[in-house]
Amino acid sequence: PLVSGKVLFEKANEYNFAIGAFNFNNMEFLKAILDAAEEEQAPVFIQTTESAIKYAGIEYLAGMVHAVKDKYSIPFALHLDHGKHVETILLAIRHGYTSVMIDYSDKSYEENLKVTKYVVSICAALGISVEAELGKLVSVEDEVVSREEVLVDPEQAKEFVDRTGIDALAPAIGTAHGAFKFKGEPKLDFERLKKVKELTGIALVLHGASGVYEEYVEKINKYGGDIKGAKGVPDEELKKAVELGINKVNTDTDLRLAFISKLRELMALEKKVIDPRKFLKPAMEEVKNIVKKRIRLYGSQGKA
Ligand code: G3H
Ligand code: 13P
Ligand code: NA
Ligand code: ZN
Repeated sequence: PLVSGKVLFEKANEYNFAIGAFNFNNMEFLKAILDAAEEEQAPVFIQTTESAIKYAGIEYLAGMVHAVKDKYSIPFALHLDHGKHVETILLAIRHGYTSVMIDYSDKSYEENLKVTKYVVSICAALGISVEAELGKLVSVEDEVVSREEVLVDPEQAKEFVDRTGIDALAPAIGTAHGAFKFKGEPKLDFERLKKVKELTGIALVLHGASGVYEEYVEKINKYGGDIKGAKGVPDEELKKAVELGINKVNTDTDLRLAFISKLRELMALEKKVIDPRKFLKPAMEEVKNIVKKRIRLYGSQGKA
């Protein structure tokens, strides 16, 4: 059933595991994610960004979810990922989202605090969970920015959590969105993560967590793509982050890579096929497989 994100955040925080949060903007990804979670008997977040809403229309996205919600026995939340405008938060609420992220991380700390507090005041009354972000998800390897400038400040995180009443915090600890996360060795700031957890005790969210697995990158490059140098968060690093208090892991890029690698392969090999389903079905299967793999990695299988 569709549940509030509050239920999921609380459970994962209490039992020290992480729940998978997967992005979708079409039927194929949505079905792959929910089918995978059902097979693994795992709670899950399904989430859409503002650009996903712009792409498909919120009526299609929320409509699909509400149409199928009773087919699934696992608890899952419909979450707005990186809500940058209060208007989008309200739109999501109107369409039955059960969790939202207000992302003012690129604004000043004071503005972030003020707007997040306002969103919590609305959502608390509706039983909708609120996630917010502190620090910036940019590559800290570029010498232009220092780590202290972009990564979360643990003391500030404590104050922010106390003053806003959010359900979950996404602390910037060195990951970045997309398929090119690190130029050199991947390095997450585990000390910082540990401090944030100790000081806040709140459910924590890791963004930019995709593994960017070699098999997909190779296949994409082999069949006409060009994403050389793509690199993600290794499984061992991710496991460590979960041990240190991450309770929701956001994955989008891995699903895209899985889907596109299968699509490129089939479109290169099956030259007579013109029925899109002959391509989309196997690509959807590939997404389902990676979602299952990720769910097991976080330890959320069987936790429904
Ligand atoms: O926020 C992180 C997403 O992976 C980017 O999603 O392309 O739907 O904005 P988007
Ligand atoms: P990836 O790009 O690593 O999949 O991160 C997705 C994310 O953080 C969505 O909010
Ligand atoms: Na989010
Ligand atoms: Zn993100």
